[in-house]
Amino acid sequence: MVRRHTRCLAADAIGIQTAAAILQAGGLVGVPTETVYGLAANALDAAAVRGIFEAKGRPADDPLIVHLASPDELGRVAIGNAEASRLGEAFWPGPLTLVLLRRPVVPNDVTAGLETVAVRVPSHPVARAILVASGLPLAAPSANLFGRPSPTTARHVLDDLDGRIDAVVDAGPASVGVESTIVDVSSAVPRLLRPGGVPAEAIEAVLGAKLVLPRRRAGPQVAPGMLDVHYAPRTALTLIVGDGAHARLLAEVAAALDRGERVGVLALEEDVPTLPVGAHLEVVGASRAPEQMAARLFAALRALDAAGLDALYARRLAEPTSGLGRALEDRLRRASRQVLDARD
Ligand code: TXA
Ligand code: MG
Repeated sequence: MVRRHTRCLAADAIGIQTAAAILQAGGLVGVPTETVYGLAANALDAAAVRGIFEAKGRPADDPLIVHLASPDELGRVAIGNAEASRLGEAFWPGPLTLVLLRRPVVPNDVTAGLETVAVRVPSHPVARAILVASGLPLAAPSANLFGRPSPTTARHVLDDLDGRIDAVVDAGPASVGVESTIVDVSSAVPRLLRPGGVPAEAIEAVLGAKLVLPRRRAGPQVAPGMLDVHYAPRTALTLIVGDGAHARLLAEVAAALDRGERVGVLALEEDVPTLPVGAHLEVVGASRAPEQMAARLFAALRALDAAGLDALYARRLAEPTSGLGRALEDRLRRASRQVLDARD
């Protein structure tokens, strides 16, 4: 592991030029996007890309997303098609990633040897400015250590990667807060590989067709790297779902406090008045405001994990079948050590 001095750059003209110069020289830069912070390198430089895997401790079989300044650049790295044109037109720049057949110029290190490449055009003005200033397609996974929640602030990036990367550009908290939606349009049937910032229904409306949805815990992984426990707080988190989840949450928290445990709750705003005194609360937002919950989820999980507690609890944040609820449920399940159904 190469030790690097990590600079914290402002999101101004000098910071953007400096970040672009580091990237052109083969370096690694934490870059703000509207979803989460990414760890960027020149996507066409295999050695630079290998640096991403080394810095994150990420397994080499987990492919990276290539970020482009504009949809017009798609042909640099991928082979476009009708579905990609329609989805790009509707959702780019923005939190949508498309999986397409790749061009040979993309190193195997980016795609983990697959014949496809994942591409996205971010909407964050600083990400776009760095892409334009560097003139490069940028490979960027989320800028966390492997196994940790995705970073939504520059502070989170430094907490994980200080001394392992060359710089981070600080543009404040990410607005969406969960990663992009990934759709595979490389074959005849469009498939949802990861729910995210763009609701699946909005994609289906543009395609005029249903997406094939990911199946959980069945068969091979849907997207490479989409491990069931992708990241999890070090402190075990119990997720409670189903009718009666609120009552069950109160009972579980009260019982744990009675056992003398230090207990944390990823709390819905409306639950706060009912939760037992003595529990450490991180309020994630109100269930009527899924955008707010998405924006706060990863920061709240990091805060709970840093609080040195014995056990963490949460109840389902939103209906898991539509809108951002699908992404919230997916990320929370991945973060959980166990899922209890309150009806059992
Ligand atoms: O919002 C986001 O997508 C953020 C920001 C930084 O853009 N990036 C992100 O990257 O979440 P990462 O590496 O944490 O997740 C990328 C995932 C991989 O784990 C894999 O599941 C999927 O994208 N992926 C990448 N290339 C693929 C391919 N060729 N085929 C199928 N899935 C692919
Ligand atoms: Mg990630």
